Amino acid sequence: MVEQTTYNYKVVRQFAIMAVVWAIVGMLVGVYIAAELAWPFLNFDIPYLTFSRLRPLHTNAVIFAFGGCALFATSYYVVQRTCHARLLSDKLAAFTFWGWQAVIVLAAITLPLGITSGKEYAELEWPIDILITIVWVAYAVVFFGTIMKRKTPHIYVANWFYGAFIITIAMLHIFNSAAMPVTFWKSYSAYAGVQDAMVQWWYGHNAVGFFLTAGFLGMMYYFIPKQAGRPVFSYRLSIVHFWALIFTYIWAGPHHLHYTALPDWTQSLGMVMSLILLAPSWGGMINGIMTLSGAWDKLRTDPILRFLVVSVSFYGMSTFEGPMMAIKTVNALSHYTDWTVGHVHSGALGWVAMVSMGSLYYMIPRVFGRELYSLALVELHFWVATIGVVLYIASMWVSGIMQGLMWRAVNSDGTLTYSFVESVQAMHPFYVVRTLGGVFFLLGAIIMMYNVVKTVTGAEPAKVNDIIPEPALAH
Ligand code: HEM
Ligand code: HEM
Repeated sequence: MVEQTTYNYKVVRQFAIMAVVWAIVGMLVGVYIAAELAWPFLNFDIPYLTFSRLRPLHTNAVIFAFGGCALFATSYYVVQRTCHARLLSDKLAAFTFWGWQAVIVLAAITLPLGITSGKEYAELEWPIDILITIVWVAYAVVFFGTIMKRKTPHIYVANWFYGAFIITIAMLHIFNSAAMPVTFWKSYSAYAGVQDAMVQWWYGHNAVGFFLTAGFLGMMYYFIPKQAGRPVFSYRLSIVHFWALIFTYIWAGPHHLHYTALPDWTQSLGMVMSLILLAPSWGGMINGIMTLSGAWDKLRTDPILRFLVVSVSFYGMSTFEGPMMAIKTVNALSHYTDWTVGHVHSGALGWVAMVSMGSLYYMIPRVFGRELYSLALVELHFWVATIGVVLYIASMWVSGIMQGLMWRAVNSDGTLTYSFVESVQAMHPFYVVRTLGGVFFLLGAIIMMYNVVKTVTGAEPAKVNDIIPEPALAH
């Protein structure tokens, strides 16, 4: 129980619970919009329920609400445990919690009302952007302040990844959200034309690289060694991984703008940097997976470890697929199709969601001082979620490649073989399968919620550190 008094677990608990809540909300909206694509009548002609308004609600809810809360929770936990220091300021940490929830609630209100800047993943209007900036600065102060007062001689690699995530997101957010307000809820981008597109996808791609990757790699570097009871495979590789990944990601944004008005050399640079990105991504994946050396047998009995390791495998898969899709000739087929959506969700469900869930299963019993209610339910969650991801991404690959091929098919006289509406008709069965995959994944999250509620309301306030000893990272 020493940790409970030494460390600030309250804010970790708050963020951890909200991560589970927002996962369910965000995925529920995901399932709904997936169903709308299969059965369009589901918008019931109500503007607030149209696909166009709910889609950004989905992306904001899963990335910033679910992913964000998971990142806040784990980073606050990891930085305290690895620095042997309490968070710099309890008040400031509490402010980041309430401030971040306020941002999420404002997003949930404004997006269905159609209030948007129109920039993907940066849709929120300027007053909310200012609130995000203030919360983020407070987050940086708490996180780096805790590192400054650490009692350990060095900074564990997970904190490097969390730190890079915090700094880079601050930079991206400030530059990409620069805008001229015209009313309280309407602004125009500070950039025009192709520059606007370039800045937006510099932001968009690095939102993937830093929001959806770097922080989650922080989770990988802490929670896999802990759950496996093994030291990180190679500490040296983790440092090379860090610098190579950080350096390369930032240049790859133009692969979102192939064959557009963006100067051709910029597109080619984006493509080359994306191909190079395969190396650090796989270096990191190998480091994560090889941490299991000598402990592979644990995968048979430990569903939490399985969540973590399978997530890293999905990370490897999506970071192989990404560089391939960045090749201009491949992108000519994949762009605008469901292949991109499949790629997104192999990263988002397979990697981001599963690594978060594994980490939360590890962390929640420890910060609440309870034993996990049911390992059997974690096992069930694992299988339901895995089936869900496979249904989702396999249907989108087939649908996407079919779409791409149908659009480019031409008859011998040069006319198009298929009309656009024929491609839409052909996609229908795959949209049904994707919805089903989403239902499975959502069901898994609901099982998790039940398990978490039973865990935290469990009667036994156990001396958790005696019951579940934490193995050292032993690096
Ligand atoms: C139950 C689970 C989920 C379902 C059913 C689902 C469904 C969907 C659907 C139908 C779309 C719109 C696709 C389109 O425009 O054609 C979408 C987009 C998106 N979703 Fe999900 N989603 C789920 C979970 C997640 C999670 C957990 C994340 C992130 C952590 C995520 C991130 C995204 C992103 C980034 C996009 C935009 C993709 C793009 O612009 O290409 N989703 N999702
Ligand atoms: C080496 C790593 C990666 C590379 C080089 C890469 C490359 C790409 C490419 C080429 C596209 C398609 C762009 C287009 O045609 O519009 C794309 C889309 C996307 N990728 Fe990746 N990817 C990588 C890893 C990931 C991971 C791990 C995730 C998620 C966690 C992810 C999330 C996304 C999202 C959300 C989009 C859709 C953006 C949009 O149009 O809204 N990517 N990526």
